[in-house]
Amino acid sequence: MIFSPIFINIISIIIIMKEFSNKVAVITGAASGIGRSIAEKFLQEGMKIVLADIELDALSQASDELKEISPNVLTVLTDVSKIGAVKALAQKTIDHFGAVHILCNNAGVGFANKSSTTVWENSLSEWKWIFGVNLWGVIHGIHVFIPIMLKQNYQCYVINTASMAGLLTPTIGTGIYSITKHALIALSEALKLELKRIDAKINVLALCPGFAFTKLTESDRNRPKELNHGTTTNPELEQMMKAYQQSIENGISPKEVAEVLFHALKGEKFYIPTDHHRYLRRGVKNRMESILQDLQK
Ligand SMILES: NC(=O)c1ccc[n+]([C@@H]2O[C@H](COP(=O)([O-])OP(=O)(O)OC[C@H]3O[C@@H](n4cnc5c(N)ncnc54)[C@H](O)[C@@H]3O)[C@@H](O)[C@H]2O)c1
Repeated sequence: MIFSPIFINIISIIIIMKEFSNKVAVITGAASGIGRSIAEKFLQEGMKIVLADIELDALSQASDELKEISPNVLTVLTDVSKIGAVKALAQKTIDHFGAVHILCNNAGVGFANKSSTTVWENSLSEWKWIFGVNLWGVIHGIHVFIPIMLKQNYQCYVINTASMAGLLTPTIGTGIYSITKHALIALSEALKLELKRIDAKINVLALCPGFAFTKLTESDRNRPKELNHGTTTNPELEQMMKAYQQSIENGISPKEVAEVLFHALKGEKFYIPTDHHRYLRRGVKNRMESILQDLQK
């Protein structure tokens, strides 16, 4: 018997839905943008959700809205840059749902450089803040949750929200952000390799959105006071930030990102791009080619 591709597609979607129903997913940065949309998609697919975020009001609002889809929502106010907060997040997840199957290390800040366009002039508080959330937040996530997942011995997933910025040569003004995302790609690659070596039932995915229309350019709203340093008067930087804001506004919706991610869970891919603009592919190709050229010299 020959089955049509549409029939096969429908069957594979039903299999994915069955497999993920009732699974417990912890999502950081879940009060807004991509994290909020992932939470919504996972709930619609029958999962139980832990929403973790630093922004209390947005977290409560997201929780109220998402509970209209399903009551299986737990909210935990969490600053991922603090190891104690991430340990508490894991404990509350286990106390409430008894297990964790999916960890989305998604919380992130960026495109908010207020101090300078250069990496040598950027204030140290800028470095500390962006590294604290984008990189240390993920380090804390894997440090706390991987041992729990290994002990459970169920099929689990760790999804790190990196970015196309982690695959491309950095652009002017986005240095610190890009550096954290490149580090996140390397961290995800190391994690995948090490888990494979011990035959762990944990899949690792590096989510690499291009531009998505979220509140990322308003990241400053969550900058801790002690890492604040006033606003810039640098016109070049202001111009650049306007251009990034425009790109974000022209980006895909966070719901589309969540759709791509959900379908990638059962696929073979490790790097998960969410938009297929030719210029992004060309950027990665140019980067790789210039590395190869130097290696051949
Ligand atoms: N929007 C894009 O174009 C784009 C592109 C590539 C990658 N990303 C990545 O997607 C992820 C989500 O960002 P977004 O675009 O949805 O932006 P967003 O600002 O809408 O959402 C980010 C969330 O992270 C939370 N957060 C910030 N600091 C935190 C902390 N210390 N602890 C816990 N939560 C914290 C915020 O409160 C917010 O709810 C980030 O990692 C970002 O780098 C976004």
